[in-house]
This record gives sequence, structure tokens and C-alpha cells, in this order.
Amino acid sequence: MAGPGLASRFQHRFLAARQLRSFPWPELEQNLRTSPDSSLLVDILHKHESTAAEPLDELYDTLADILNEEETTHCYKNYLLPTGDCVTLSESVAIISGGTTGLITWDAALHLTEWAIETSAVFSNRTVLELGSGIGFTGIAICKTCNPKTYIFSDYHPCVLKQLTENIRLNGFALEPETTQQPPTESLGQEAKATNYQKPKLIVTELDWGSVTEKQLSDLQPDVIIAADVVYDPEIILALIGMLQKLSSSRADRKPPEVYIAFTIRNPDTYHLFHAELDKVGIRWHVIPAHSNSIFLYDMQPNVTILQLFI
Ligand SMILES: C[S@@+](CC[C@H](N)C(=O)[O-])C[C@H]1O[C@@H](n2cnc3c(N)ncnc32)[C@H](O)[C@@H]1O
Repeated sequence: MAGPGLASRFQHRFLAARQLRSFPWPELEQNLRTSPDSSLLVDILHKHESTAAEPLDELYDTLADILNEEETTHCYKNYLLPTGDCVTLSESVAIISGGTTGLITWDAALHLTEWAIETSAVFSNRTVLELGSGIGFTGIAICKTCNPKTYIFSDYHPCVLKQLTENIRLNGFALEPETTQQPPTESLGQEAKATNYQKPKLIVTELDWGSVTEKQLSDLQPDVIIAADVVYDPEIILALIGMLQKLSSSRADRKPPEVYIAFTIRNPDTYHLFHAELDKVGIRWHVIPAHSNSIFLYDMQPNVTILQLFI
């Protein structure tokens, strides 16, 4: 019989809607051929192939309906967390749709989340602001595993913000101000009280790095700022750095927030430009050492780095 390791690798890939060719088929075949316990499975397959029964008409009709359907633009993906819980997201099937890259989950988001799960003390009981959240993978996973006090998702694209809100609800979280409209804790049962107490406060806000004001930023008061895959072209780099400078000057006497940015190095020139622009405005940075845990699936191991910035 296929061992639990193999079964769970199939499960992870299936739930995350990975491409069929990335499934460990050769190992399964090998397992079925060699393991004596697999005789039942082989038997079932054999029976299926040689069955003399009439194929079910309904089955063919349904298949025809599916094949004739308009091409779907969205799919649901499930990302298993080490806690046994999972993050379920409605994602676009195209890398760019509606003029944005924000409707899918990028590798840098997976990588940043793996690091966050390993370093959960950074987030525990703190106010976290995420920039360019996209459809919410990192934030939802952090809310489920790292116990933040408040998690502020942000983005500037209307379709992304809509999908993000839908995904947050899909994962069982209520958004402010809905959270405050819930019945007072006294009227809730013991179980609900306990659950309520555990849940972080979640906020979705429209935040455009190019036009955000210092006042808007100082209202947010984050302890930690994170972002994944937001450094990908020179124009964006300047807007992002400009916003970090505003954040730095809007914090009055508070301790500066910790800033962590994960990005995939596709073009080394862009990566170096980011460093050069940070140096130009006097924002110090260092590379976070690579983490050891590998929780999520990548088609190829991505070239992702996490930088800590000191603003
Ligand atoms: C490549 S996607 C990354 C999404 C998500 N963080 C991930 O890694 O899966 C870049 C995101 O940055 C957002 N973005 C780009 N420019 C922005 C700006 N000026 N202000 C706010 N968000 C911006 C986009 O809307 C998009 O959601």
C-alpha cells in the first residue's frame, strides 16, 4: 500500500490544485507494483478496465456538460498548514487578469509565510500591516497560525480588494467593523467566548503607496510591516520606498515598526536597484537567513529572499 508520505504528497498537490504532472506518479506506480498490500488496488483497476457493464449515461452527459462549459476564470485552492488547518482561496487561473498580478498567490508569499510560521513570535500579539496583500494568502495563514493582535491587509486594486475580502470571509474570519457589530461577549456561550478571544482583529484597507498620506499611515500604528512580491519594477520600487519614508516620519515617538519584504529575484538588476534606492535614502537593510522548513509546494524552488529593513 502507498505509505502515508506518498498519500499526503498526493493530498497536498490535489488540494492546492497543482498541475497533474507534478504529482508523484512514478512512485505510486512503483508502489502499486511492488507492495503486496496493493493487490486490492491493482485488482480494482483491473476490474474497472475489463468491466462488461454498460457505461453510465449520466456520467457521459455530465462530462460533456463540463467540456462544453465556458472556460473558467477562477479556481479554489487549499493550502495545508502544519496545524492541520488549511487556507482556502478563490484564485484566478491566469497570472495576469483584470490588469493586475494580484489575483493569484505568488511564490514569495509562500516563502514569507513559511518563515512567519517558523518565527511566529514576531507576529504574536502585535499589529501587522501587510502591503500589496493580493488575495490574502500570507495574512490569512498568519492569522491562523501566529496569533497577531490586529492584521491589516492592504492593496490598491479594486478587484484584488474584492477578492481578498471574499477570501477572508471564506476562511471564517469576520472583518472590522462587522467584528464590532457582533453580540456582546456576555450573551455568547462559553465556546463562542473562547473562540472570540482567540481571533485577531482583521481589517482590509485601500492603500496606494503612491498617494497614501502620513495621516493615513499614522492612524494604522503597525508594529510589524510585511510584503511579498512587491518589488518588480523600477516605478513600483520608488513608490514603495517613498511610502516607507512617510511611515518612518509618521510614527512620532513610537518605536519604529519592523519591516520584512520577501521577493523573488527574477531580474538581478531590479534587486540591485532596490538596494541602491534604499541606500540612497538611508534605509538600512539585511538579508534574513534562509529558513529550513518547507511547508508549501513550488513548481521549481524559487529564488526568493527576505530583507529586513530598518526605517
Ligand atoms: C505580484 S502581486 C503580489 C501579491 C501577494 N503579495 C503575493 O505575493 O501573492 C503585487 C501586489 O502589489 C499590489 N500593488 C502594486 N502596486 C501597488 C501600489 N502602488 N500600492 C498598493 N499596492 C500595489 C498589486 O495590486 C498586487 O496585489
